[in-house]
Amino acid sequence: MTTTITTRVGIIGGGPAGLLLSHLLHRSGIDNVVLELRDLDYTVQRVRAGVLEHDAVELLTENGLGERLHTDGLRHGGIYLQFAGERHHIDFEALVGRHVWIYGQQEVVKDLIAAHDANGTPARYEITDARPVDIDTEHPRILFTQDGEEFELACDFVVGTDGFHGVSRLAIPEADRTTYEREYDFGWLGILAHAKPSSDELIYALHENGFALLSMRSPEISRLYLQVPPDENIDDWSDERIWDELDVRLGMPGWSLERGEIFDKSVTPMRSFVSAPMRHGSLFLAGDSAHIVPPTGAKGLNSAIADVALLRKGFVQHYAGDSSVLDSYSETQLSRSWQTQYFSTWMTRMLHTFSGPDATFDHQVQLGQLAQLVASDHAKAHLAEFYTGLPITR
Ligand code: FAD
Ligand code: DHB
Repeated sequence: MTTTITTRVGIIGGGPAGLLLSHLLHRSGIDNVVLELRDLDYTVQRVRAGVLEHDAVELLTENGLGERLHTDGLRHGGIYLQFAGERHHIDFEALVGRHVWIYGQQEVVKDLIAAHDANGTPARYEITDARPVDIDTEHPRILFTQDGEEFELACDFVVGTDGFHGVSRLAIPEADRTTYEREYDFGWLGILAHAKPSSDELIYALHENGFALLSMRSPEISRLYLQVPPDENIDDWSDERIWDELDVRLGMPGWSLERGEIFDKSVTPMRSFVSAPMRHGSLFLAGDSAHIVPPTGAKGLNSAIADVALLRKGFVQHYAGDSSVLDSYSETQLSRSWQTQYFSTWMTRMLHTFSGPDATFDHQVQLGQLAQLVASDHAKAHLAEFYTGLPITR
């Protein structure tokens, strides 16, 4: 027997995109249900992004999600670029009058879950076999199983916020879908450590051994990354080897890296991916289900936030009798997504070492590029404008 639940917007995936969309719709009086594959603890414990753009923070704050962000988050007015043994500050505040916040994705998810609990609208966790059906009609449904029971969620719209490995994108017939993809021959080894951050702001470093990034989560917790081969075995990296390599790539005369207990480490492969269109009938895609960027520009989470902010606006207007925002959603967000792909590719190519016959030449070109960048206010403003974020329509 199948139990039918009725709502307006059915959301597949309870990551940051799905939970935020649900919260925004709830605040706008639009009934919705989030279906999440994993359990609650898993979704909270996933360690991922750390930088929130200017507009993303404004959006979260306007929607009752800014309290911990503003007390525990770290406001950063710039970043450092390091290469050829020198460290250069890029002052976002001076260049474009904007800043970013360091606040872990895990914390955003925790705040969203607390808001859902307070609203009495928790996601449904540990659902399996979610299948969007009838998406070519105005009465789509999501079939799913929970605790061995079969359900159907009858809705007006389905939104797929189920990430890169989700099922929503695949519900769009293959003939109607174009995939643009690019793999990198490296990944990032990321750690979290109980160590005081060794810098006031993030350091992005190009070194002959590869890219390194110093980031942080709080005044007591450092987040650091190293460029490694994509299939690198994490077991080959003892804590000491990780700190030694970070020292080599980030080291500067008169500056030392604070070490501490490493309590999380993982290797993430890097890819660029866009699936077009982001709408098919009554199904919309948002966040990683539609696009992935290499993490160098810190754009993944921010792009997901931008997608769902526009979707909220689209649904609100639709229920008020105007579907124009929903109708142009795919075109608008694909254009935004390609601009973000451009920035992320540019940052990635500028700051990582590449292998192959042209590697030595390319490394010198990168040094030339970086030297020009730090010498030019126009070039620095270009970076600052993109890094602090494209406008988020809301
Ligand atoms: P996700 O966070 O992937 O959430 C999707 C949700 O859908 C998950 O909870 C998943 O369990 C659920 N789901 C999947 N399939 C189903 C299904 N069939 N049914 C129901 N639910 C389903 N970005 C940065 O900017 N900086 C970083 O340092 C960074 N590091 C990253 C590290 C890793 C390992 C990964 C994978 C991504 C990283 N990103 C980073 C990208 C950033 O975290 C993502 O862009 C962001 O999580 C996107 O949010 P989302 O909600 O769209 O997708
Ligand atoms: C972090 C991740 C990024 O991808 C980035 O560019 C900067 C910071 C982080 O996890 O802190």
